[in-house]
Amino acid sequence: MNKILIAPSILSADFSKLGREIEAVEEAGAEWIHIDVMDAHFVPNLTIGPVVVKSIRPTTKLLLDVHLMIENPERFIESFAKAGADMITFHIEAEDDPKEVIRLIRYFKKRVGVSIRPKTGLGAIEQILPMVDMVLVMTVELGFAGQEFMSDCLPKIEELRKKFKRDIQVDGGINASTAAEVRAKGANVIVAGTAIFGTKNYSEAIRGLRGL
Ligand code: DX5
Ligand code: ZN
Repeated sequence: MNKILIAPSILSADFSKLGREIEAVEEAGAEWIHIDVMDAHFVPNLTIGPVVVKSIRPTTKLLLDVHLMIENPERFIESFAKAGADMITFHIEAEDDPKEVIRLIRYFKKRVGVSIRPKTGLGAIEQILPMVDMVLVMTVELGFAGQEFMSDCLPKIEELRKKFKRDIQVDGGINASTAAEVRAKGANVIVAGTAIFGTKNYSEAIRGLRGL
């Protein structure tokens, strides 16, 4: 059984005190920091780049989990790797040569994740499953925090767990109750933005995501 890991998404954090927010979720028991990178092309929003990863790297020992929601991610693997990312996840829908992206991430000795949108089937990543460390199953449309969990993605998680033994990450609309649903289907890396940073007590929120 894969260890349950909690990855707060800093997109929902208070960016005027980002360092303190990261310290607070680290103290509250999170294992990873989920960093949502958006380019206003692949998704209808614009967020942060390598410079923010570089500045938060020295502030935490947690695994920096970079979620690239950008066109042609191969252009930015080197800069995120050198900025201090530990895990780099790209979208299969944003790339016509996924094996090249995987090769690049491996070249920089980082962990490889591939992500699929809610409407993308497992068939799109079947061939590269043996080459990745993690699959990120999105449970909201890309671009924004605070959206409603899409429960019709649950069968996809269950299906994936049958054929993929490494990390399965779920991201979007995850709170204590939807976390229980995705864990039951085999997901083990839980991303949450609003359900953590939208609360007063981060430790309680993180315990809730673990089902404790
Ligand atoms: C959406 C991002 C998610 C989002 C999660 O495109 O990839 O990580 O920020 O936020 P919540 O947990 O509030 O849905
Ligand atoms: Zn994300």
